[in-house]
Amino acid sequence: MPLVNTQKMFKQAYDGGFAIGAFNVNNMELLQGIMDAVVAEQAPLILQISKGARQYANIRYLKALIDVAIAEHPEIPIVVHCDHGDSFDLCQQCIADGYSSVMIDASHDPLEENIRKSKQVADYAHARDPYVCVEAELGMLGGIEEHVVGVSAEDVEKFLTDPDDVEEFVTKSGVDSLAVAIGTSHGAYKFKHVPKLALDRVQQIMDRLPGFPLVMHGSSSVPQDLIAQVNKYGGKMPGAMGVPEAAITEAVKLGVCKVNIDTDLRLAMTAKIREVYATEPAEFDPRKYLGPARSAVTELVRRKLRVLGCNGKAAQCL
Ligand code: G3H
Ligand code: 13P
Ligand code: ZN
Repeated sequence: MPLVNTQKMFKQAYDGGFAIGAFNVNNMELLQGIMDAVVAEQAPLILQISKGARQYANIRYLKALIDVAIAEHPEIPIVVHCDHGDSFDLCQQCIADGYSSVMIDASHDPLEENIRKSKQVADYAHARDPYVCVEAELGMLGGIEEHVVGVSAEDVEKFLTDPDDVEEFVTKSGVDSLAVAIGTSHGAYKFKHVPKLALDRVQQIMDRLPGFPLVMHGSSSVPQDLIAQVNKYGGKMPGAMGVPEAAITEAVKLGVCKVNIDTDLRLAMTAKIREVYATEPAEFDPRKYLGPARSAVTELVRRKLRVLGCNGKAAQCL
């Protein structure tokens, strides 16, 4: 069964000291670009679909494309995951659509309410056959520096995951994995000056939850060669900055099992499309820019898989 949930994947990743790449998918070229990469690297895969992706592509189209990818590559274990589910109803709908994993993101609610909402989804998902996995989030994503502006250093800490809350949260909610806030944020502008993550928090959380799968959102590295390519061909993204690959490697060593990447794929596509538009202004066949953009996604994802150390790990996660 190549459509799998995250249970075995995360155990293998934790025991083997590697992480699974969770890549957002919005259209056919992104999906094919990602698939070509995991097939070339023989890596396990989490394909994640945001609420926006469901709306953009029409989930029935997107799921049909993913079903083809799954059928074409039985040697690759694939999780279909709901990224940042914002309600029980959405998670329920995703499960009805055949997802094998969902995230309920109630991280903006107070602890008790976050626990209540996460437990509601976990109870429902776990009673399905086959078992559907649930990720929840504790703490709020956001660049550390971002929060420093206008608030005291003490207050900055309040946005990060509090290690003192994690045991209670996981025990009471019953979720399968936990997204932690350690100073990453979504998008291409994660830091204003120097990248800074609270990696010591990962260790403190791990000390309280040994072996429990942790998830890192906002993990794009915003490669500077891609930013230069975007800017060279008419884009305007000054100061874009992401999480250094070395910090990701460090987080994986500390026990992070799932690493979420979306922005970097968007950058790879956009940089290549801008280049084709600028260098071949007479071109108007979408295949002539979407094809190279798809290859650029493959190249990027292959590199990510090697950074995460999950290349060659497909078979053991089946
Ligand atoms: O969580 C953020 C992901 O990058 C998904 O973004 O909501 O624009 O699809 P999106
Ligand atoms: P990036 O914006 O850093 O790619 O993060 C994506 C993410 O966390 C999706 O849930
Ligand atoms: Zn996220």
